[in-house]
Amino acid sequence: MTKLEQIRAAEERLLLQTYERNPILFVRGEGVHLIDESGTKYLDLLSGIGVNALGYGHPAIEEAIARQSRALIHTSNLFYHEGQAELALRLTERVGLDRVFFANTGTEAWEGALKLARAHAGLLRSEGKTIGTKFLALEQSFHGRTFGSVSTTYKAKYREPFGPVVPGVEFVRFNDVADLRAKFSSDVCAILVESIQGEGGIRPLSQEFFAEARALTNETGALLLVDEIQAGMGRTGKWCAFQHYGIAPDVVTLAKPLAGGIPLGAILCTEEAARAIHAGMHGTTFGGGPLACAVAIAVIDAIEKEGLLRNVVETGDYFQTQLRWLAGRHDAIVDVRGKGLMLAAELDSADLAKLTVAEMLKRHILINCTSDTVLRFLPPFNLKREHVDQAIDALDQILTQQASHATTSSAAPSGGGKALGH
Ligand SMILES: Cc1ncc(COP(=O)(O)O)c(C=O)c1O
Repeated sequence: MTKLEQIRAAEERLLLQTYERNPILFVRGEGVHLIDESGTKYLDLLSGIGVNALGYGHPAIEEAIARQSRALIHTSNLFYHEGQAELALRLTERVGLDRVFFANTGTEAWEGALKLARAHAGLLRSEGKTIGTKFLALEQSFHGRTFGSVSTTYKAKYREPFGPVVPGVEFVRFNDVADLRAKFSSDVCAILVESIQGEGGIRPLSQEFFAEARALTNETGALLLVDEIQAGMGRTGKWCAFQHYGIAPDVVTLAKPLAGGIPLGAILCTEEAARAIHAGMHGTTFGGGPLACAVAIAVIDAIEKEGLLRNVVETGDYFQTQLRWLAGRHDAIVDVRGKGLMLAAELDSADLAKLTVAEMLKRHILINCTSDTVLRFLPPFNLKREHVDQAIDALDQILTQQASHATTSSAAPSGGGKALGH
């Protein structure tokens, strides 16, 4: 038995069967590559589902972990440490809100943001305003797996096995301004959006929809919550994707790349929203610990020192142009969209999308498929043009092969590959 076979057998016996893993055992990483047990290098265009913004083995991260782990890893939120205020200053300066709460993961940050919105509405009611407790979320949204987050997540497969979920959530059709207006009322305590939906298929909000969500919430005092867990921290070429729209949210959540692979989430909010929270109302044992904060500070500094926001824009634009070129050659690509290094190529069939992910893996390139038909690219921010070229060549080969199979057998591609990730 190989080491991988031994691990697979043990996991099958011992772990909750939540994941359909691909049969690869990664042992280390270097730059934008992952390396398996046999020493084979894989070009990683997924970066741990949008987490490893600086790729692998980045000296700034290694140095911060080594330094901080020697000094202090955990102290609890009962005491001060040097990292939280310093990181909060960096985040508020760049993202533009006033106050920060640190959590551990994306879903936990979103959960806290939902609680903040309900508490804020309660505060407004105590001040004599008319405002309810309802959330308006969007169709195709994804906000995480804990109860509040999953209740505001659209796809039934994530919610229904766990019902009843948290009540008071209504879904609005994506980018449908008329539906948003029809469903909004003084019952609503918050409108919930991702600037660019990630798991929902890399779908950017329209300027008109975003502006209407801001205008409606401004009228009643409801909050506009923006989930930047996947799109934030530079992935689209700005610190947050909402900054492309010139709209100021009340609450923003961050996680995934925030500490470059060490778990860390954050809620950023305005002074007005922060009025709703008092000592003891919300908290966490681990959130915002010294190690995670030290690494997040190092990640932000490295992004700036290495000009990575500019690289995200330049390499992202190149990547998108090349995907469009590919779409011109292959009818199977029905749409190309995204911003910076948050990109998608939508195919015309779920089987072909699965097969393409599996064929890319055979060529040692990691991508994933989301929303059945959407090839998703979330590479590290230090990706170079030569990596884009490698991916485009491979996709071109695979789609050419599949098109010729389809014409010679006159049958649809049979699929059989495995989609990578959820
Ligand atoms: C937009 C968005 N929100 C929330 C989450 C949940 O984050 P986590 O998996 O860290 O709980 C995700 C994860 O994919 C996400 O993409």
